[in-house]
Amino acid sequence: MTISKVALVTGGNRGMGLETSRQLAALGYRVLLGSRDLQAGEQAAASIGSDNVEAVKLDVISQSDIDALARHVDDRYGRLDVLVNNAGIMIDGDDGHSASICDADIDRVEQTLRVNTLGPIMIINAMLPLMQRAEDVRIINISSGMGQLFDMGGNYPGYRISKTALNAMTRIYAAELDPGKFHVNTLCPGWVRTDMGGSNADLSLEEGVDTTIWLATADEARVSGGYFRKRERIDW
Ligand SMILES: NC(=O)c1ccc[n+]([C@@H]2O[C@H](COP(=O)([O-])OP(=O)(O)OC[C@H]3O[C@@H](n4cnc5c(N)ncnc54)[C@H](OP(=O)(O)O)[C@@H]3O)[C@@H](O)[C@H]2O)c1
Repeated sequence: MTISKVALVTGGNRGMGLETSRQLAALGYRVLLGSRDLQAGEQAAASIGSDNVEAVKLDVISQSDIDALARHVDDRYGRLDVLVNNAGIMIDGDDGHSASICDADIDRVEQTLRVNTLGPIMIINAMLPLMQRAEDVRIINISSGMGQLFDMGGNYPGYRISKTALNAMTRIYAAELDPGKFHVNTLCPGWVRTDMGGSNADLSLEEGVDTTIWLATADEARVSGGYFRKRERIDW
């Protein structure tokens, strides 16, 4: 029996993670929709209305959640083909805190780095043995233009640094892993209408996940170590 390709999407309970899960399921992938609140994940999975989606508990900074999920994927599917590191936070300027680096709340910077950068590293490393058993692995790290060094602006230090570091770790994995099997890339989705992006953002959810779905599925996207927006490479 051939099982469908297996995809894990972190932060799948809302925003672009939910839309990515929806589209991968529609393409026939078996989707593990990660959510730190399992009930929220189950509601989101139900909203997709596809037998291809399974909600799984995953707080991306919880090693015990990550290890339990790796065991579950091993028991149930024996491999992982696609990993979308989508979960993210932008908390530098919340709750009356300034977004300036000049009086940065270091606890918030640290928390942002944990969720946006260190969590993805913990997840990739835990899933590597399962991904080694797949033939064509796609790892997609959802970054942001706010992590681009070439035109780095001010404010949001935790968020900006976390996304620049996510880009760096993408290159490090691409350098270390077999490029014949592992396709590790990072992308900026653009400014997208989600809770994070707000209602004035340019792009719909469908537009926001287009490059993610392309990198996850397209034959011509069997590349590694790239930084993309609108399916095109962009400057680091
Ligand atoms: N929207 C934009 O314009 C934009 C632009 C550039 C880049 N991005 C990036 O795109 C990605 C998705 O953003 P979005 O706009 O869809 O954001 P969103 O609507 O705010 O959703 C964020 C998701 O991340 C999850 N999350 C946060 N902390 C988590 C943790 N510790 N463990 C597991 N899940 C966690 C949230 O879960 P809860 O519901 O439990 O909080 C939620 O599912 C993020 O990486 C973001 O930085 C967004």
